[in-house]
Amino acid sequence: MKKNLVLVLLMLSAVAEALAVSITSPNGKLRLNVEVDSSGAPLYSLDFKGKTLIKPGRLGLKADETTFADGFSIAGVDTMTVDRTWQPVWGEYSEVRDHFRELAVGLKAENPGRAMTVRFRLFDDGLGFRYELPRQEGSNYLTLKKELTEFNYDGNHKLYCIPGDYDTDEYLWSETTFSELPEALKNYRRHSESQRAEGLSVQTPLLLKTGDNVYVNMHEAALDGYPAMLLDVDNENYSMTSHIAPDRLGVGAYLQMPFNTPWRTLIVSDDARDILASQLVLNLNEPCAIEDTSWIKPMKFVGVWWEMFTGKVKTWAYSDDYLAKPGVTDYSKLKPNGHHPANTENVKKYIDFAAKHGIDGVLVEGWNEGWEDWASYRKNRQFLFDKPYPDFDLPALRDYAGEKGVKLIMHHETAANAADYELQLDRAFKFMKDNNYDAVKTGYVGAIIPRSEHHTSQWMVDHARHVIERAADYKIMVDSHEAPHPTGLCRTYPNWLAQESASGGEFESMGGNPPSHTCILPFTRLKGGPMDYTPGLFETRMSYYGEGKDSQAGTTLARQLALYLTMPSPLQMACDLPENYERFPDAFQFIKDVPVDWSDSRYLEAEPNRYITVARRDKNSDDWYVGAITDHNARTALIDMSFLPKGEKYEAVIYEDAPDAHWKDNPQAYRIRTVKVNSKTKLKQPLAPGGGAAIQIRKK
Ligand code: NOJ
Ligand code: CA
Repeated sequence: MKKNLVLVLLMLSAVAEALAVSITSPNGKLRLNVEVDSSGAPLYSLDFKGKTLIKPGRLGLKADETTFADGFSIAGVDTMTVDRTWQPVWGEYSEVRDHFRELAVGLKAENPGRAMTVRFRLFDDGLGFRYELPRQEGSNYLTLKKELTEFNYDGNHKLYCIPGDYDTDEYLWSETTFSELPEALKNYRRHSESQRAEGLSVQTPLLLKTGDNVYVNMHEAALDGYPAMLLDVDNENYSMTSHIAPDRLGVGAYLQMPFNTPWRTLIVSDDARDILASQLVLNLNEPCAIEDTSWIKPMKFVGVWWEMFTGKVKTWAYSDDYLAKPGVTDYSKLKPNGHHPANTENVKKYIDFAAKHGIDGVLVEGWNEGWEDWASYRKNRQFLFDKPYPDFDLPALRDYAGEKGVKLIMHHETAANAADYELQLDRAFKFMKDNNYDAVKTGYVGAIIPRSEHHTSQWMVDHARHVIERAADYKIMVDSHEAPHPTGLCRTYPNWLAQESASGGEFESMGGNPPSHTCILPFTRLKGGPMDYTPGLFETRMSYYGEGKDSQAGTTLARQLALYLTMPSPLQMACDLPENYERFPDAFQFIKDVPVDWSDSRYLEAEPNRYITVARRDKNSDDWYVGAITDHNARTALIDMSFLPKGEKYEAVIYEDAPDAHWKDNPQAYRIRTVKVNSKTKLKQPLAPGGGAAIQIRKK
C-alpha cells in the first residue's frame, strides 16, 4: 500500500514538470526529445552524437471518428531501463541483447475525451515507438484513415529506396536523394495488377545516408492487425510522413481499442556495419509464442523450380489444354503437354541428387491442379491444395523421399486468392502432414481476392498472421512469397523461416539483378527478416539454354557462394539445376558445407550498394565462414581474422574469382585454394567486378 503511494507521488511530480521530456540511449549517443506544442500536438525529435538527426515532427493518428493528434496535454510520463538477453531459435546470433531506455508518454485530451500513450524505446542502435490506444470513453471502434507520424530530416540526404506500391516490393533499388527522388521514381514500370500509392512515396525498409555519413534504416516492427507502412515524401522539405496501406475503399485500418500499433523503427549509426548487425527490429517483437520449437529446423533445399525459368519451355501446368478450353475441371481428361517437370520420374532425380549431396529438402512447384485455370482467372477457386496432377505420384514420392532421408517441400500458389486459401487451409495442412511434409512455400501472384484488398492492407496482414499461426498448430514451417513485408514477426513465430518480399533470384531470368542489388538488400529488406533469395546460380547466362533469352545475372559464380553468408537465412535454396552443379562439383562443395544457422556474426566491412564482408560462426561447430561481395567494381576485401580464438591454427578454403573473372564476360572463372590462417591473419582478398569470395575456416 505504502509502495503504491510513493509511485503515485512520483508520477504526479513527473506530470507537473512535463511539457517536454528527454531520454538518452544507454551509451548516451542518441537523445530523444518529446514535447506537446501550444495546439496540444505531440512532437518528437532525435539527436545523434549531439547533432539534430530528426527535427521536431508530429505524432498521431486520424480516424473517421476522431483524431489523436492535437488538444493533448501530457498526463503522465514513465521511464525505465531494460537490459536482458534472449535466445533465438535460429538466426545470426545464438544470443541477442535487448538493451534500451523506455519512455512512455501518456497523453490526454478533453472535448472530446481521448487518451493515447506513445511508447518510445531508445537503444544504442536506434529508436522504436508505437501508439497505444487504451479503451476510450464512448465508442471503441475506429476507422483509421491516416497515420500522421512525421520524420523531418534537415538535409538533402541520400535515399536507397523502391517506389511506394500497395501490392509488390519486387523492384530494383534506387540510390538517389530527396531532391532527385521524383526523377528516380519515374524510371519504374508498374507491375501488372499492382497499385502504386499516389504522390511521391516509397516503401520501407528504406535506407538513408546523411551528409555527415549517418545511416538510418527506417522500417516497422511487429506488424500485426494493422496495414503495412509506406512513407510519403516531401522532397523539398526533406520530410517523410507515414502512410498506411489502405484497402480499396481507402480505409487504412478498422481498429477496436485497446490497440497498439506496430513499432516505427529507426536504426541509426555512423558505421554502416552497425546497421547490418542491428537486432533492433527483432528486439521490438514479442518473444517466441511457440512452446516446443524442436520441430523447427533450418535447412537447405533444391527444387523443381528453376527449370521453369530457364527458357526451356517447362511449365507449372500439366497440360496446355486450358488455352483451348478455359475452365476445364476434369484433369484426367486433359492432354499432358510433355513439358511438365513436376512429374514422378523427374522429382525422383531431385530426391536422388539431394540425398547424394546431403541437401535436406526438395521443393516441387506445379504438382497440383489449378495452373491450367490461370488463363480464365478469376474463378472462385483456382487451386486445389490436396489434388496432385495425374503424373505426380504422391504416395510413391512420399515413400521414396522418406527412404532417402529427404524432405519434400510443399508449394501453395494461391493466385492471390487469399480468401479461398483460408477456406482450404486446414485441409491443405492436414494433407501435408499426412504426406510427411513439414514446410510450405506460399505465393500470392496477382490481384488479391477479396478484391477489396491489397497485398499490404490490414486484411492481408491478418491473413499472413492467420496462416503462420495455423501452420504452427500443424508444426509446419513457412516461406511466403508476395506477402506483406517482414517486420521481425519470425521472432514470435520462428516457423516463419523466410519470405521473399523483394526482387529475388527469379529476376535473374527476367533481365537480371545488378551486382549492387545484393549489396543493398541486407541494409534494407533483410532488416525485417530472412529472405528466400534463392542463391547458388552457377549458370548465370540464360542464353546457355539456347531459347533466345538474353537475360544475365549480375554475378560471378564465386559470388553466388558468398551470398549464403551475406544473405543469411535459415532456409537457403541451391537454386540451380542439378546438372549445373554436376558441372562444377568442387564449387558445389561449398553449398553442401555452408551452415544455415549461426552462433555469432561479425560484419567486417560494409557500404550500402557497394560491398559487404561478413564472418559467421557455425551454430553447430567451431567453424567460421566468411562471405565478401562487391558491386560492379573490382575490390580488395580486407578480412581481419581477429574473430578467431587466439593461438589456434586454422585452415581456410577460399572459393574466389579467378584473376580474369568478370560478372558479364567471364562469370564462371573461379579458383579454390587452401591457406593457413589464425587470429592475426589479415587477408587481402581480391573480388572481381560483380564478384565475391566465400571462405570456410576450420581448425587444423
Ligand atoms: C512467384 C514466386 O516468387 C516464384 O518463386 C514462384 O515460382 C512463382 N511465383 C510461381 O508460383
Ligand atoms: Ca515473387
